[in-house]
Amino acid sequence: MRRTTAPSPSRIALTTPLIALAVLAGAAPAAADPAAERGGREESLIEVPWVIAHRGASAYRPEHTIAAYRLAVRQRADVIEPDLVPTRDGHLIARHENELGGTTDVADHPEFADRRTTKTIDGVRVTGWFAEDFTLAEIKTLRAVERIPDIRPRNTRYDGRYEIPTFAEVLDYWADARGHGRHGRDLRIIPELKHGGYFDSLGLDTEEMLAEELAERGLDGADAPVVVQSFEPGSAREVDSLVDTPVVQLISGNRADLTTPEALDGIAEYADAIGPDVRHVLPIGADGRAGEPTPLVADAHDRGLLVTPYTLRSENAHLPDGYDRGTDPTAYGDHRAYYTAVLRTGVDGVFSDSPDHLYAARAHFLKHRDR
Ligand code: G3P
Ligand code: CA
Repeated sequence: MRRTTAPSPSRIALTTPLIALAVLAGAAPAAADPAAERGGREESLIEVPWVIAHRGASAYRPEHTIAAYRLAVRQRADVIEPDLVPTRDGHLIARHENELGGTTDVADHPEFADRRTTKTIDGVRVTGWFAEDFTLAEIKTLRAVERIPDIRPRNTRYDGRYEIPTFAEVLDYWADARGHGRHGRDLRIIPELKHGGYFDSLGLDTEEMLAEELAERGLDGADAPVVVQSFEPGSAREVDSLVDTPVVQLISGNRADLTTPEALDGIAEYADAIGPDVRHVLPIGADGRAGEPTPLVADAHDRGLLVTPYTLRSENAHLPDGYDRGTDPTAYGDHRAYYTAVLRTGVDGVFSDSPDHLYAARAHFLKHRDR
């Protein structure tokens, strides 16, 4: 968020995670409000920890499509997540990566065959078709496909049905959903900028694009029901300098260096939350099983940082050993037990491809939490 000489209201509010969520939910000022202390539920239907729909309800529909977001909202997600990359002509679109071949039918478009190329992106060689080489009009001729058909074969029935939405279109859908029903009223959105530094090097300033879009819609304030994420500290800091909207510093699984108390001190200077790989919160041991929680949640909370780890998935292929059921990698394991174990660590929200499963686990967790 933009810094002034005094701490911003959201910075003050964000010193207590549950109160912060109530404020972000649009609840009344929280400090002396017992309802807000309980998560703002008298003022708002928001529950904590948040159910964050990772790329939409991506266990059931091709990710980053309006259909995936619509299903997530029907499954009572509190937050929907679009990842964002830019087109050549400066539009942000909802994709997890700029390479389009994994989640669209671009390979079936002979008119784009000569766009296939190899690039080095953040040190990784990638071959395919890249969003920054396409205009938005060209992107709109593509259709989304399931990313992991081997694990989610049922989703392939939706291949080819849905457009690639722009960030503006996702915001339009989200704003419309917020106008429907008591649950919709509290729906939030948590966009993530991908590869900010790489796109800067191409003259595509995605932080500016995002800030402009938020400002045009009046979503650049500390009380906006929007949270912006990035893995890149430089990108997160830039967003923080452009808008007052809360910021999440994402922490990948190989960046344990960003989970130390000293690193968290630095992150707290510009961010309002951390979004760590869930294994930084509940590690997986060499035996493949979930171990004991780390101190990360408490260390972050001590610094006024919320904690929203990623990503919970329900199929055996994705669950730690001990939570699987049978040998079919596409079958569901004991997702409720695993999701509940993660919720018990004290996190403030969790990303899941299956918002319905996380919603059910949260209900179970909240019901039994004090027993
Ligand atoms: O933003 C939380 C989570 O989505 C980060 O991982 O790679 O799925 O964007 P990724
Ligand atoms: Ca993401």
